[in-house]
Amino acid sequence: MNFLSLIEAKREGKILSPAQIQEFIRAFTAGKIPDYQMAALLMAIYFRGLDTAETTAFTLAMRDSGDVLKFPKDQRPLVDKHSTGGIGDKVSLPLAPLLACLGFRVPMISGRGLGITGGTLDKLDSIPGFKTLLPAKKIIEQVQKVGCVICGQTDRMVPADKKLYALRDASGTVPSIQLITASILSKKLAEGLDALVLDVKFGCAAFMQTKADARKLAKAMVALGNECGVNTRAILTDMNTPLGRAAGNWLEVKESVACLESLVGTRSTASQTLRPDGDAMERVPTDLRQLVITFAAHLLVQTGKSRSLAAAHKSAEDCLDSGAPRRKWDEMLAAQGVDLKAFNRKLALDHTAPVVMKLESPVAGFVSRCDARIIGEVIRDIGGGRLTKESAINFDVGVDQMAKPGERVEKNSVLARIHAADQAQAKAALVRLKTAFEISSKSKQPAPLILEILS
Ligand code: URA
Repeated sequence: MNFLSLIEAKREGKILSPAQIQEFIRAFTAGKIPDYQMAALLMAIYFRGLDTAETTAFTLAMRDSGDVLKFPKDQRPLVDKHSTGGIGDKVSLPLAPLLACLGFRVPMISGRGLGITGGTLDKLDSIPGFKTLLPAKKIIEQVQKVGCVICGQTDRMVPADKKLYALRDASGTVPSIQLITASILSKKLAEGLDALVLDVKFGCAAFMQTKADARKLAKAMVALGNECGVNTRAILTDMNTPLGRAAGNWLEVKESVACLESLVGTRSTASQTLRPDGDAMERVPTDLRQLVITFAAHLLVQTGKSRSLAAAHKSAEDCLDSGAPRRKWDEMLAAQGVDLKAFNRKLALDHTAPVVMKLESPVAGFVSRCDARIIGEVIRDIGGGRLTKESAINFDVGVDQMAKPGERVEKNSVLARIHAADQAQAKAALVRLKTAFEISSKSKQPAPLILEILS
């Protein structure tokens, strides 16, 4: 293959054939194309784009660059959810066991966070003993036996994306809709799914900041997922405000368990029902519960397990409230190496970071802004996120008890609590955290969480 001629062809806006794409992805994965040449092709793609057939070929070639999970035949459909990422986005944690209880198999291969966006694997790493790196054989065994697994990609899955993503990161070519689509879907297609639901976020803390860009990405992913034989839907959701009331790895695990305990849980293992100053605060954040139920409901409809979205919502809600997904969560944790007694002891603690400080409202009024980007930056800067891929994470730090837009607060009500490693960091974080909140005298309806569904 003359790779230089492919770079030149794309530079001139020509279409590459599926055979050419398969060949260069194979050669690049095998180390036969130097990074500088591949970076040049990526830049040409960034400016010239890929058409639908090219994007499909690119995605399938990346999927086939390594192992594709092969599950035994079974009446339970294989499903997953992917989120483009946001602050406090812990939906995967309660969703996987809920889906398993609804009669699905869930091979949820997840990633780590970078920058302000948290990663599901980092949240799970805050659970002592939880194993996130599993060989393909164990992933398949656990999915067949327990119904769900949440773990990282094995070294042998989609190696082309791993290499290409690192190069895109270093060459300023990440924000190409076609490359993002191919990158995300190649990994999901390697799970061997029947149906997939995508949470495409827009807003100040989202990968796609505008609704228009999020819609463009969602449309491209839905079209390609369906083209590749996976029933795919996308839901556009707001990421101007954090999801739930907690952000930070361990604090999000706690809130996920509270969500799973919903109506049947015991208070001792859940997040608090009241703020320390006595203000009412629902035990399970309604936005988190809404997204968990919504994604489960869509997958029920997509796989023909429910005839209408209304019936699917009811099934998902009843199942969540039955307590079965909470027990399934324990089963998943035990299967992945967790000592449940130790986990429950940690869960019962109010905080695990050395210092907790409250941010109080200076006035009475209504919360009109709780800025997800600022909160994400604060958490990253106190060690809860990564500045570089190599940074170590402090799992215990974060923000909880966040007041959300539309809520009434009194003077000195708690707007949020910061969990930090020491006093100095907590104090500095509090100064910044203050700028994330706005209180106004008039009540205003918060923006809807779900903007639209693309199927
Ligand atoms: N997440 C991915 O997995 N790939 C991208 O290209 C962007 C976000």
